[in-house]
Amino acid sequence: MEIFFEIHSNLPKESPGGDEYTRQAYGMLPLLSQPTILDIGCGPGSQTLELARLTDGKIVAIDTHQPFLDRLEAAAAASGSMDRITCLNRSMFDLSFPDQTFDVLWAEGSIYIMGFERGLKQWRPLVKSGGYVVASELVWLQQHPPKIIQEFWQQNYPGMPTVEQLLNLIPECGYDIVGHFTLPEQAWWNYYQPLAARIDRLRELYGNGSEALTVLENEQRELEMYREYHDYYGYQFFALQKSVKPK
Ligand SMILES: C[S@@+](CC[C@H](N)C(=O)[O-])C[C@H]1O[C@@H](n2cnc3c(N)ncnc32)[C@H](O)[C@@H]1O
Repeated sequence: MEIFFEIHSNLPKESPGGDEYTRQAYGMLPLLSQPTILDIGCGPGSQTLELARLTDGKIVAIDTHQPFLDRLEAAAAASGSMDRITCLNRSMFDLSFPDQTFDVLWAEGSIYIMGFERGLKQWRPLVKSGGYVVASELVWLQQHPPKIIQEFWQQNYPGMPTVEQLLNLIPECGYDIVGHFTLPEQAWWNYYQPLAARIDRLRELYGNGSEALTVLENEQRELEMYREYHDYYGYQFFALQKSVKPK
């Protein structure tokens, strides 16, 4: 775990994305005046800060890793948006807010932790009537990926869905689809390039035979898999509106 957080500390992002894609995703929603937003699994919070720039609303950012929250708090203070961003150490499994608190739930690269279906269903009461959920999720983009990449994701994210499967599932979870798009390759390299540099540096530090090296090699493998097989899978951003009743 320690080496995991050593790899993943002070990176600009913890999932594929970037400010322009946060903007694109937010742009799928209609204009909202002073929205109340819950950013779930905010990580270092680049999307939180972008949402603060995009809206005149208030954002509650939650995560269970305190160093991410500390970093976001410092960045919010530096950007002058501290009065609109509240950071809370809270689990997405137990959000404990009153029903209908939020206009928008934002889950960028984080809903997989709960599972897409469970997250959508469990979080639904927190969304105001007619409010929105925006979430990105890892998906298969093609029906018949090569065995090697199938096996890799079978080990690392079993049950990874196709876009089609999620589009069918969403109405059952109580939402209408407002829009969706696939993140381009650049969004992945925004995440993977700084990660690759970090892996290289830590490899030199830890050297052969260490336990840390195994973790580093696993992370490296994910990156190499993406380089080779990126046509077959990707991250899909969904904007959903809470429907009157689950179908
Ligand atoms: C893949 S990262 C995405 C972070 C950020 N949204 C981004 O796109 O850069 C997932 C985040 O979920 C957080 N996380 C893990 N388990 C959690 C839980 N039970 N409740 C809330 N956050 C959690 C991790 O600490 C991490 O910051």
